Amino acid sequence: MCSRMVNIGILVSGRGSNMEAIIKKIEEGYIRNARVAVVISSRRDAPALEKARAHGIEALFIDPKEFWKEPNPERREELRLEYDKRIIAELEKRNVDLVLLAGYMLKLSPYFVRRYKDRIMNIHPSLLPAFPGLNAQKQALEYGVKYTGCTVHFVDENVDHGPIILQAVVPVYDDDTAEELSQRILEKEHEIYPEAVRLYIEGKLRIEGRRVKIKD
Ligand code: GRF
Repeated sequence: MCSRMVNIGILVSGRGSNMEAIIKKIEEGYIRNARVAVVISSRRDAPALEKARAHGIEALFIDPKEFWKEPNPERREELRLEYDKRIIAELEKRNVDLVLLAGYMLKLSPYFVRRYKDRIMNIHPSLLPAFPGLNAQKQALEYGVKYTGCTVHFVDENVDHGPIILQAVVPVYDDDTAEELSQRILEKEHEIYPEAVRLYIEGKLRIEGRRVKIKD
């Protein structure tokens, strides 16, 4: 793993600031032996697409055709699988080894998770297992916690659930708005996500059940 180039595929749906933080750490040489082979968006208008292209990275929109609106749950899962297979085909074409979810808003099918077992990471803006799901920063404010933060974890078949790689703690202030808190958390996200990727690429992460041991 250490000597050969690791091909990274990044899945996005929006702004792409975590994606860009990782790209910059590769460009600066902080993350070595890695390249972003492709960025794939589930949204046509995701700013992440242009950001990736500005760094000379191939960026594709793959249209999910709003499969989540399918009322029949079984059919919906079939459509999810079809969509994931289209993504996997693009990742395979580019020999992607590591998949990073960076603000990717769709749940992966079990097929996708198995195909890249222990090779998919996600970032979530809370200290998991607290506040999984949407609007984690707002959930933290409403609950009244004094500290929250962010988590990089491997992805398993459940949302915001897999083994935790790194976390960073962020204080919550009395007069915080959701926007201010989100911004403070985001700064930490931009530190720990590239760091987790570096550790992975340097072969320093070992998964033991739910625990990720770090050799450094
Ligand atoms: C981040 O807050 C991340 O934790 C969450 O979605 C947001 C994505 O932001 N999963 P960006 O697209 O990386 O700027």
